[in-house]
Amino acid sequence: MSEYKDNGITIEELKDRIDIVDVIGSVVNLKKTGANHKGLCPFHSEKTPSFIVNEQRQTYHCFGCGEGGDVISFVEKYYNLDFLDAADKLAESIGTKIKRAGRRNEVSDRLLEMNRKAAIFFYKAMRSGPNEGLSYMAGRGLDAQTMRDFGIGWADGEWTSLHDHLAAQGYSDNEMLEVGLVSKAESGRIYDRFRARVIFPIMNSSGKVIGFGGRAIGDAMPKYLNSQESSVFKKKYNLYGINVTRQYIQKENMAILVEGYMDVISLYQAGIKNVSASLGTALTENQANMLRRYTKNVVLSYDADEAGQNATARGMDILKDAGCDVGIVIVSDGKDPDEFVKKRGKEAYLDLVRGALSFADYKFMRAKENFDLETTAGRLGFLRRAVQILRELSPVEADMYIRKLARENDISEGAIRAEMEKAGQTEKSDRKKSETPPQEVTADEKKLLRVLFTKADYLEREKEYLEVFETDAARGIFNAVKEVYEPDHEIDIGKLMDILEEEEQITVRRILDDEMLGGDVQAMYDSLIKGTQTKKIKEREDELITLISMAENVEDPEKIREMMQELREIQRELSVRRK
Ligand code: UTP
Ligand code: MN
Repeated sequence: MSEYKDNGITIEELKDRIDIVDVIGSVVNLKKTGANHKGLCPFHSEKTPSFIVNEQRQTYHCFGCGEGGDVISFVEKYYNLDFLDAADKLAESIGTKIKRAGRRNEVSDRLLEMNRKAAIFFYKAMRSGPNEGLSYMAGRGLDAQTMRDFGIGWADGEWTSLHDHLAAQGYSDNEMLEVGLVSKAESGRIYDRFRARVIFPIMNSSGKVIGFGGRAIGDAMPKYLNSQESSVFKKKYNLYGINVTRQYIQKENMAILVEGYMDVISLYQAGIKNVSASLGTALTENQANMLRRYTKNVVLSYDADEAGQNATARGMDILKDAGCDVGIVIVSDGKDPDEFVKKRGKEAYLDLVRGALSFADYKFMRAKENFDLETTAGRLGFLRRAVQILRELSPVEADMYIRKLARENDISEGAIRAEMEKAGQTEKSDRKKSETPPQEVTADEKKLLRVLFTKADYLEREKEYLEVFETDAARGIFNAVKEVYEPDHEIDIGKLMDILEEEEQITVRRILDDEMLGGDVQAMYDSLIKGTQTKKIKEREDELITLISMAENVEDPEKIREMMQELREIQRELSVRRK
């Protein structure tokens, strides 16, 4: 084990490892409501919960007293500690401590200096005369200037060249192991980790060498070997090339974000220098925030394959959340920007960038690929997905895209707007639903249970009414009723009570004692069933209206006539029911 492992963690790492919901949840009773967790505010006295914990943002906020912040500020306030003590307390709870700056800097300065020496060693090896790395990179069209700008090097095929070089300068095996420059065999033998590979030093924005990527020559696996995570290399906090390209990103006020080392390097050499790479991993929030410090405008240009496009879909959301304006480029020739720019040149690539798809365009395009727009079902599916996308946009943007969608897909604007309206309403009622405590049995459920208590044989007609049961509380009681039911007998309320939980018993007592539920049980049942059916018919009416308004121009007239006919019948039925 390395001598640095027990040195503690940074504040950033602490926040990554700790979940605010766990921390607050251990002292405040939190209930999940939608995306948030809710509870009674510990900082002021209240009877209804207005204290919200946002898991995604890792923040809390009280709408009653205005307190809010992140996990550390919660612990500060709750336990009346200062910032560092609060951070220490949290670190202790996961069995570690916060790194003290002095010690951390000493150690990491030494490791960074060792990395720098390794990078120079690799670079000199590359430039010192003919070798496989040089021919490989020359074969890929790289010139000497680019190699110098990025410090590209060569790790020879021997087993201890780098190790011996660093050892001679006073670095220990443990130090080399810590950053992953060497590995240890089971026999205890230490050997160079990067062998027969072209070396791409990874530098942070202040130019310190924090890690390496090594590309195999030919088909050796893995294609790229990267430094392991260490106290100096945190992949998710860094962007490849940024130390070189940052100035161009600022100058152009735009960053092109690509997947791989070679994409950065080829675009750069072609004269497109405002570029950086997330290095194959999914883009992280941290990387997005980092880019955002240099520019708001980011063009995502990942590989054209499935993996690249999936990474694009995730990356664009993360960039948008970080406050970036995102454009998307998909290369039309070759699998990635490296191949494209080599085949087609700088201007062709810049044309792609100028024509980048907007956030919404890209999402609509992907959505369309997933549905068969020749069929009604496919068009309805696409419409619903499109509405989800529209709802992520600002109202002005949404309005523009509604028109565009209507024009390009032969769907009427009205149909889209109606669907948006509907989606808005469901969201509202979903929110309402999740706010009522889960134990609250609805009025309809109470009626139905009362019917079943008195007319046990109706249990056999559950197809008619099953949908009336919405809450877990009512379903629990319903299942218990079925359990004690014996054909041709009334429900034995005593037996039922025996198998119910206390809360359920209270609910059942209330239902039995409720005067309002007395009277004509049969009439109550009939009106319940009618209500459920009406609801279903209305849903079908909605669906038909949407389908018909979408179908014009496309569907065959016969099908439209059928749907119109069904709609007329349904509307007639509904008007009879209303009487
Ligand atoms: P790609 O497989 O697209 O590589 O992976 P590439 O950039 O096109 O490489 P070349 O052009 O064949 O040399 C994209 C990125 O994913 C990471 C690397 O950062 C790479 O640049 N990767 C890929 C790895 O870390 N390891 C691998 O084995 C492969
Ligand atoms: Mn590539």
